[in-house]
Amino acid sequence: RQRVVSGMQPSGDSLHLGNYLGALVNWVKSQDEHDAFFFIPDLHAITVPQDPAELRARTRKTAAQYIAGGIDVEKSTLFVQSHVPEHAQLAWVLNCITGFGEASRMTQFKDKSAKGGQEAASVGLFTYPVLMAADILLYQPHGVPVGDDQRQHVELARDLAQRFNHRYGKAFTVPQALIQKEGARIYDLQNPTSKMSKSASSPNGLINILDDSKTVTKRIKSAVTDTDTVIAHDRANKPGVTNLLEILSTLTETPIPDLVAGYEGKMYGHLKVDVAEAVVARIEPIRTRTLELLDDPAELDRLLARGAEKAREVASATLADVYDKVGFLPLA
Ligand code: TYM
Repeated sequence: RQRVVSGMQPSGDSLHLGNYLGALVNWVKSQDEHDAFFFIPDLHAITVPQDPAELRARTRKTAAQYIAGGIDVEKSTLFVQSHVPEHAQLAWVLNCITGFGEASRMTQFKDKSAKGGQEAASVGLFTYPVLMAADILLYQPHGVPVGDDQRQHVELARDLAQRFNHRYGKAFTVPQALIQKEGARIYDLQNPTSKMSKSASSPNGLINILDDSKTVTKRIKSAVTDTDTVIAHDRANKPGVTNLLEILSTLTETPIPDLVAGYEGKMYGHLKVDVAEAVVARIEPIRTRTLELLDDPAELDRLLARGAEKAREVASATLADVYDKVGFLPLA
């Protein structure tokens, strides 16, 4: 069985529709045929300031949403990154084979640090993609199911794996980004040329999977479209309508051309009603199940502890091999 690894940050109070359609849906599909490892990257979360109590709560909440969204802890290994110390340990070794210029070229760092200025950005934020490479390479996966915005980071993980293998002898599988065609990039409803994002989107541009049906419906009905009336898939000229079509296509697993044909002669309002219904039908049960799971935090913590134990079995073997290859003296 081939292996896959992926993670989603516990930032914000809820996963948003982009996280769900761009990543979680694919994770759920992949767990049947793959040996899957899914984790909550809390070490990554603290690259920007976090309130400690909130971080803890959100980490559990993210785990609950993975499970409610369809991750089956009997099939997949589900864990919290900080419970597996090998992530930070491997990251250090990888930091030492990453070029400063190479890290400087990561666009997510450039975007995130641009906001507060480079002076305000932490060194952790700078080296974030190297930690992500460690997250991936520890598990020897063939694939990393992510949305389109993580492509460059997975590329760095590939480069570092190849570099390490070449320099010290083969320790890592060189992984591939697994990016689905539909849903790989969901856009802000109010600003459909930029991606839906917890940090960048206005509340009305964002659909959280824990939002109630009324809020979701209202936001979709007020999604920005254009002054034309034809429902067509055209990213350049009709980004709003295109985004709605892609959301509907991913949720209903209907090819875009079929959807477009069905809307011939219909108005934007029809499309919005259908999108709103499809989104609500999908996320409503996830919200209910998440809240149920959060009622029993001890049980969640127990599941996460079991996941960490399974993850460590794999992670510690990779790290031991790496430590040996770089020439660290074994502990007698
Ligand atoms: P994060 O937490 O920003 O996003 C989690 C996943 O959601 C996808 N995604 C989107 N997909 C479609 N449309 C959008 N608007 C959208 N916004 C987010 C992301 O591509 C991602 O798959 N660095 C990672 C977390 C991470 C990780 C890893 C991922 C840490 N270590 C190891 C994979 C493997 C991140 O911040 O994703």
